Order: sequence, then C-alpha cells, then structure tokens
Amino acid sequence: MPEKPATPEDRPADRSAVRVLLRLWPYVRPVRGRFFSAAAVAIVASCLSLVIPLVLKWLVDGPVADRDPGGVWLGALYLLLLGFAEAGLFGLRRWLVARPLSSVEARMREDLYGRLQRLPIAFHDRWASGQLLSRGTTDLMLVRMFLAFPLTFLVVNGVTLLAGCALLLAQDWSLGLVLLTPVVPVVVLCSFFESRYAVVARRAQDQVGDLTTVVEESVLGIRIVKGFGRHRSQAESFRQLARLLRSTELAKARLLALIWALITILPELAIGATLVLGTVQVADGDLSAGTLVAFLSTALALRWPVESIGFLLAMSQEAATATERYFEVMDAEAEPDTAVAGGGPAAGGPDGVRFERVSFRYPDAPEGTPPVLDGIDLHIRPGETLALVGATGSGKTTLTALVPRLHEATGGRILLDGEDIALMDRERLRSLVSVAFEEPTLFSASVGENVLMGAGQDAGGAELRRALGIAQADGFVDRLPEGAGTQVGEQGLSLSGGQRQRLALARAVVGRPRFLVLDDPLSALDVHTEARVEAALREVLKETTALVVAHRPSTVMLADRVALLSGGRIAAVGTHQELLRSSGEYAWLMAGEGDGER
Ligand SMILES: Nc1ncnc2c1ncn2[C@@H]1O[C@H](COP(=O)(O)OP(=O)(O)OP(=O)(O)O)[C@@H](O)[C@H]1O
Ligand SMILES: [Mg+2]
Repeated sequence: MPEKPATPEDRPADRSAVRVLLRLWPYVRPVRGRFFSAAAVAIVASCLSLVIPLVLKWLVDGPVADRDPGGVWLGALYLLLLGFAEAGLFGLRRWLVARPLSSVEARMREDLYGRLQRLPIAFHDRWASGQLLSRGTTDLMLVRMFLAFPLTFLVVNGVTLLAGCALLLAQDWSLGLVLLTPVVPVVVLCSFFESRYAVVARRAQDQVGDLTTVVEESVLGIRIVKGFGRHRSQAESFRQLARLLRSTELAKARLLALIWALITILPELAIGATLVLGTVQVADGDLSAGTLVAFLSTALALRWPVESIGFLLAMSQEAATATERYFEVMDAEAEPDTAVAGGGPAAGGPDGVRFERVSFRYPDAPEGTPPVLDGIDLHIRPGETLALVGATGSGKTTLTALVPRLHEATGGRILLDGEDIALMDRERLRSLVSVAFEEPTLFSASVGENVLMGAGQDAGGAELRRALGIAQADGFVDRLPEGAGTQVGEQGLSLSGGQRQRLALARAVVGRPRFLVLDDPLSALDVHTEARVEAALREVLKETTALVVAHRPSTVMLADRVALLSGGRIAAVGTHQELLRSSGEYAWLMAGEGDGER
C-alpha cells in the first residue's frame, strides 16, 4: 500500500474563510429565492423575541403597577401570541430551506463524481481513494449543514444583536454602554479562536479521509488481510489513526469549550453589573421598574445570539475547510482538452498503429530515474496482430496505456491510421480503441452489462452472445443462476480469476473495435481454455489491428509478428522464429515453457 500524502496539493497557509465559502455561490444561486426568504423569515422571528421585553415593560409599568388583572391577562395573551408566532416562523424557515439545500448538496456531489471520472489516471495515482470518498460524503454534509444553519444564524443573530443593542441604548444609554463593554474583547477572542480552529478543523477532516482509506483498503483487501492473518495489524493501524483523529477532535472540543466559556462569562458579568447599577437607579427613582425589567429581559434575550457565535463560527470554519477540500478536487486539472491542430490529421487510408520516438515517464517517478519508455519506434500494420514481449516491469502495460491515452506520452507521437492521437477527440479515440487490462475489473452490475460496457449504446443480445463466445465465457455464464443477467459482486469477486478475465476479454471485443489492445489477456486460463479462446480470438484478430502483450509462447502464437521491449526501447521486431534465433533475451524470456519451440 503506497503511502499517499493526505492532500498532495500545496495550499496557502493563510486563507480567508469568507473567500472560500463564497465559492459555494454558484451552487446556492439557483435556490437563492427560497434561501433568502428563509433568512428573512428567521430575522423577523428572531426580532419578535425582542418585542417580548417591550410587552413586559408595558405590563410592569401599566397593569401591574395599576393592579389591573384584566390588563395582566391581556399582556399574557400578547406574550403567548408572540411566542407562537416566533415558533411558527422558525418552523416555516426550516421548511423553506430543507429541500433546496439537499438539492444543493446533491448537485455538488454529482459534479464531484463527474469530475472524478474526468480526472486523469495520474491524478488517481496520486490521491488516496478514501480522501476522495470523504470529500464526497462528510465534507459535503458539513457544507449542507453550514448553509442550513450557521450561515443563516450568523446573519440572523448579527441582525438581532444590532437591533437588541439599539433597543438597549434607546431605553437607557448609560446602562446600555455598561452592558456592551464585553463586545470588544469578545470580537478579538473570536477572531483569534477562528484562526486556531481553522487549522485543527482541516487536520481533523484530512484524518477522516485517511481513516476512510484504511477502511476501504481493508474491506477491498479482506482476502489478503485474512489470508496473511493481518487483521490484528490492520486493526492496529486503524486504531492508531482513529486515536489520532480522536485527539484532534478533542483539541477542537477544547478550543470550542474555551471560547464558549469566555463568550458566556463576559456577557454574564456585564449583565450582573447592569443589574446592580439598574437596581440602584430604580431605588433612587431615576429609572422605572418596567424599564429595568425590559432592559434585563432584552439582555437575556440577546444571550443566545451571543453565546451561539462561538459554535456558529466553528461550524463555519469546518464548512470552509470542507469547501476547500471539495474544490481541491474540482480545481485539479482535468485531462487537457485536445488542441485542434492547425495541420489537421493526415488524410489517411488504413495505416495501422505507429509509435514514433514515443517516450514516457510517470509524473511521480523519483528524480533522476530513467523514463519507463525512451524512444519507442514501432509500426503495427493494418490488420496485423503484434505481440509485445518484455521482462516484467519493462513497461509493457505502460506502453499499452498510452494508446487509449490513459496516460499522455511525454514525448514523440502515436498515430492511428495516420492520425495523431494527441489531436484526436478522446471520446472518438476510445471508441476506436478497445482494451483489456491485466487485472480484469468488473463492476457491480450484471454480467451482460459488464460486457456491453465495451460496446455502443445500441449493442444488444446478439453482440453479447458473440463476444461471450469468443472469450469462451458462454459456457460458464449460461450456468450462472440468471445467465447473463446475473449480478456480479463488487469487483467481480464472486467469479474466478479466469472467469473475470474472460468477461474482460469479451468486453474488449464486443464493440468490434478497429484497434484492439490486450494486456496479457489469457494469463489466468488453463491451457485447454486458453487454446479454445485463442482459436476464437484468431477470428477477431483477423478483422482488427491489435497489440497483444504476451508472456507465454502460446499467446505469442496469436500474433503475426513480435516486438521485444527492453530498456525502454523496442529492441527487436520479427516473427517468433526470427527472434528466437536473433535475440538472446527473447529466447530467454520464452524459454521454460514446453511449447516454446513449435
Ligand atoms: N503509476 C505508476 N507510477 C509510477 N511508476 C509506475 C506506475 N506504474 C508502473 N510504474 C513503473 O513503470 C515500470 C513499468 O511498469 P509496467 O506496469 O508497464 O510493466 P510491465 O512490463 O507491464 O510489467 P508486467 O509484465 O509485470 O506486467 C515499472 O518499473 C513500474 O514500477
Ligand atoms: Mg504489465
């Protein structure tokens, strides 16, 4: 398992949460109507709570002072109505935002998934899958929660606080000033807290990604884990990461607790001070009892908006981090669009496949290592089948991956019927070229769907039967409980290696491709099945231009000619017999199998 950095991209240490969060706007824009009306409703609801103290003031200075029971009842009714209205409005707000926000989340997730499909293999080589998974799940959930709750309430509470302060100052400006003294320290503390919290939040979310990777790897690799009795060490590494995440979460909680305590204590002290001062003023007759009641109940009504600032800021920071992590993937460079060449493709009849001085090195290869491919010159004639032979690790798979442009050649060019593939539309290129890889990958879908993935939209049952026949897969597929309709498990794990390989081969040939690239397609088959597949494959190979990676002489026999890949170059080309005579390395590679000298 290669160690992958949590986030390969360098990111600036200093970033503004607001600027990051503003990037969500394009997703929120379509639902802005409901979103803003929900915020407006919440502001009205929240400001209603500030009217309650005014009713209290009227109640205390009026009916209570006059000992008028009817007036008291009326006041109580007003208070009750205000309470109901506030609750109803908050309910309305929730109803307004719930549906649009899940659509925002869904759209962001869709975009992320689409992006992941379009990002080049080199990107996926670099990024751990758990990091990508966690961005599509946890991080998007944080974003939705932010839009639903902290964002609105930062605004709502801000407006409520301003309105409340204005009311306080209007009622008694000297008491109001005493009450407002903690504002400055609270603001300073909050901004300090915010920058600290951002760092820890980022760490926690990256660690969630690492944890997801471990879980995913051990689930996918459960056979290896069990087979080697590694469940203990696997569990240990999970535990370590989980412990790390736990300590980060605790650090987060500590920060939050600290700021919460300060934000609660400071206003509390101020309220205490105003209570003392206010009581003295009432006793001196400078202030009406009703005003003091109204003043204090306004201050108490403002406690929640103040206290909530701490965790609203915390949630916003988490959302900013999540947004940042989301856009790290969205900003990664997609497969570059094909430049439309001025010269245009050579108007060519069939010319087969040409490699011209093609070189390639992996982007993440260590400095100083020679390129895997270094000046490949090779011509596969139209309709010809060329076998590619080379020692393990010599770059055969790499070479085959260049043809459908899973990796981009770093030098030279590859021509299909005279047309430079670098200038071809990727979709068209991939409809011309069909591939089967060493490790046959199947998806959790039916057998038929897995195979027909290799064909156009209109391919049907007849093509499926033909392809299964060529791959000698029709026998075992028919014996499956539901034939070609049988679901295969994740990665096709319910099938044998040879069965999977034959389905992958069927997928490669089902679309009758012009060019066929097979990476050691028969390695997992017993000699008899292999012979039958080869016999059927011969018919297919007659119609296409094919590059077949071969380890065994029996596979080489399918080909018209053989190319030997060695030291990043094509060391020799010729028929099997010619190479056996002329190349020691080839003879050595082919030796050791009974039918090497046929
Ligand atoms: N994604 C990658 N990043 C960096 N290096 C890679 C990557 N994939 C393969 N390599 C390196 O490129 C070299 C060629 O690998 P390749 O898979 O093409 O060999 P191969 O000829 O297909 O071997 P085999 O016969 O075992 O299938 C190897 O040294 C390998 O370590
Ligand atoms: Mg290989």
